[in-house]
Amino acid sequence: MTPTAIATRGDRIQRTLEHLRHGSTDTVDQVVPFGPGQYTDPELAQRERELVFGRVPSIVAHASELPEPNDFITLTMPRNRVIVARQADGSVKAFVNVCRHRGAMLEEQASGRCRLFSCGYHRWSYNIDGSLRAITRENTFGEVDRSQHGLIELPAQERHGLIWMVDRAGAPIDVAAWLGPEMDEILAGYKLGELTAFHSEGFDEPANWKLMQDAFVDNYHIQYAHPNTAGKHIHTNVQTVEDFGRHARMVSPRKAIDRWLEEDPGETDLGPYVTEGHYLLPNSTLLRQPDDHFELLTFRPQPADPGRCRMEMRLLVPPLEASGMTPERYERVWEKNWSILLSVLHEEDFPLLRSSQDGLASADAGGMLLGHNEVVNQIFHRELSKLLEA
Ligand code: FES
Ligand SMILES: [Fe+2]
Repeated sequence: MTPTAIATRGDRIQRTLEHLRHGSTDTVDQVVPFGPGQYTDPELAQRERELVFGRVPSIVAHASELPEPNDFITLTMPRNRVIVARQADGSVKAFVNVCRHRGAMLEEQASGRCRLFSCGYHRWSYNIDGSLRAITRENTFGEVDRSQHGLIELPAQERHGLIWMVDRAGAPIDVAAWLGPEMDEILAGYKLGELTAFHSEGFDEPANWKLMQDAFVDNYHIQYAHPNTAGKHIHTNVQTVEDFGRHARMVSPRKAIDRWLEEDPGETDLGPYVTEGHYLLPNSTLLRQPDDHFELLTFRPQPADPGRCRMEMRLLVPPLEASGMTPERYERVWEKNWSILLSVLHEEDFPLLRSSQDGLASADAGGMLLGHNEVVNQIFHRELSKLLEA
């Protein structure tokens, strides 16, 4: 069965070791049926845009991607094209990336630094805080109430070194409340704000965002889909899961832990022998690796097509100054790490998920199942349906 919380990391790992000894894993009561429409239905996709992404906070960046005032990034959320910009006071604001004159896309760059956003169509310009700064040929254009024609602001908040937003103008945002006390405390403990995004990259994939999210909380596929990579290092179908009622934390043992199957680990810190995953409703997985670097995986629906999404992957590591490494070694270590991640994605997960999406589009694909052992997938789908019902 799946516990709601386990007090210490040692206890979590101990429980995982017991599973390994007994060939067991955490489970949930039910086998849950689902239909392929989960991943293909445009009406469901529409409800997800409104009731999930238009209502609850999701992660859009790590703070180190826009460290200084006037730094910005742009992205496509399910409901809006968005600019996120660091303000003069250090806070972040998000805006709809659309000019208020006649709707041209305002900023085309993926990221950059600028004091004003200037529209390519008739050169209206906006300050970094979204206010309308200048109207070209104003004497002939006519009078405009500038206070009413700034960029449309979207709710954004920085917490635990991550930038979160709700994709609906005027919606409230409270990331701490959304995380709940357990996950808020867990993320606070990681001090993710002191890390830096060594790499951050997005991939537009022809697969539903949930199909992708499902694969990155799944400890059941490892040895089958990744026999020569992850399957060599991580045990398959052995997981300790804490279900916090919205988000979840899962411990997956690495194969190096096997030496402690016979031998009593006593007081030995077994942290280096596990990967701790965190599923953050609605669309992220945060992986804590043995040496306390993190991988953050985020899955966002493409606005119009339920069969497409954008995955973003971020490698969060200590900055060079805090790493104790020479610059050369630092580059070498993290570049290598990143390239391994990329090759598993491109050569193993993506082909599998693209073909799953193709298969699921079959008219008579039939009913599917999530098993007792697919605990985090079940939590993900359970919590998502709660949001969609409300
Ligand atoms: S549409 Fe932007 S200035 Fe005209
Ligand atoms: Fe995988």
